[in-house]
Amino acid sequence: MYNENSKLMKKRKIALSKIQKIIKDTLSKEEMKFIPGKSTIPLMVPDISWQEINEAMDSMMKTEFTMGRKVRRFEENYAKFIGTNDGIMVNSGSSANLLALSVLTNPRKKDPIEAGTEIICPAIGWSTTFFPMVNTGLVPVYVDIDLGTYNINTDKAEAAISDKTSAIMPVHLNGNPCQMDRICEIADKHDLYLIEDTCEAHGSDFKGKKTGSFGDIGTFSFYISHHLTTIEGGMFVTSNDEIAEIAKNLRAFGWIRDMKSKKEIANQYQELDERFLFYNLGFNLRPTEIAGSFGLQQLKKINANIKTRRANAKYWLSRLKQFEDFLILPEATKGANHVWQVFPMTVKPDAPFSKNEIVNYLKEKGVETRPLQSGNMVDHPSAKLYKHRTHDNLPNARLASKNGFFFGNFPQMTKEMRQYIAETISEFISLKSKR
Ligand SMILES: Cc1ncc(COP(=O)(O)O)c(C=O)c1O
Repeated sequence: MYNENSKLMKKRKIALSKIQKIIKDTLSKEEMKFIPGKSTIPLMVPDISWQEINEAMDSMMKTEFTMGRKVRRFEENYAKFIGTNDGIMVNSGSSANLLALSVLTNPRKKDPIEAGTEIICPAIGWSTTFFPMVNTGLVPVYVDIDLGTYNINTDKAEAAISDKTSAIMPVHLNGNPCQMDRICEIADKHDLYLIEDTCEAHGSDFKGKKTGSFGDIGTFSFYISHHLTTIEGGMFVTSNDEIAEIAKNLRAFGWIRDMKSKKEIANQYQELDERFLFYNLGFNLRPTEIAGSFGLQQLKKINANIKTRRANAKYWLSRLKQFEDFLILPEATKGANHVWQVFPMTVKPDAPFSKNEIVNYLKEKGVETRPLQSGNMVDHPSAKLYKHRTHDNLPNARLASKNGFFFGNFPQMTKEMRQYIAETISEFISLKSKR
């Protein structure tokens, strides 16, 4: 790093303040234009503005690029936001999931999960909810979801447990918390590790407690479509000191630099340079200071953004309720505060139109849609490559995969845009139900 007082640094400071002013003046005047019938309403619009760019510019002009003080500050702030003791930032939500299962199966962990044991999970999540299970030697046991909440059916989850089950990994899909009182009860009763894939549900809560803070580990994605974005990025949260310590060790090469116990470990291996002492089977999952800068600024906006997403969802639910004969609309889990990352729905099998017809109509009218997340994971060709089990034949996951879709929900969605989406769906259904 350049010396703070060097001539070069002073020059950079002056340049930085000029650049930051131009960025602020330019971006704060921009607004999203929408022309009904002409503009496209995309699946995602990241809420990135001058604040994030200027914060990142500050790090870059100070030549602070890789994981450093801003990442650490963001980790502390994010852990406080979720209500856990530790936050360990990584370079994606997929990496957070890989880290979670790598920690729990790690030979340095007391009572590690044994290779070959089973992990209970929903049949719909994201591909990298499931692949890290396989990568760490576990066997996914796919359980059906409930239509409406789109989350794991908790009775089926309990029924799927065998004497080989070691963990349960629910996914709070679309921003909707799973039924966490029941899931915690199942984990306690059967002595299972609990990992929450909270990659789509930042800031959501179940009976007042934030998701991600119920289990041994919670994971988050900061990809651009999520409630908080660092472009790419993720977070691993825990309140368990042993788990946090191993996670810090595995995140960066297996070296000891970020561990609380680094001095004690270094003392045991005095013949090795403590800066390059590889204590565990690590990865490189580190984030950059640019991502840390984004995180610090994005966290200031998250509550306001969640409020907008909730208001949008409430509006669509009230406008589309009249079509419940044809559509399975999304519903929040009882006792939960849903944060509505997107707005999902499933066309009922006996509706007078197909999913393709409705999504094609929306596309023609400029409303982008896509299938529900991973769809039923068992139907993908990748499922042929690894050992897994399904609890039953997953009828709801199959229907949601075949007939489900979602459109975007983002903070910059104007009232005009959300009204246009509701009206386009109404228009389509009235055309179809007249026949
Ligand atoms: C439920 C879920 N888990 C994991 C991930 C992976 O996160 P990332 O894209 O940051 O790797 C995602 C991604 O959006 C997700 O939706």
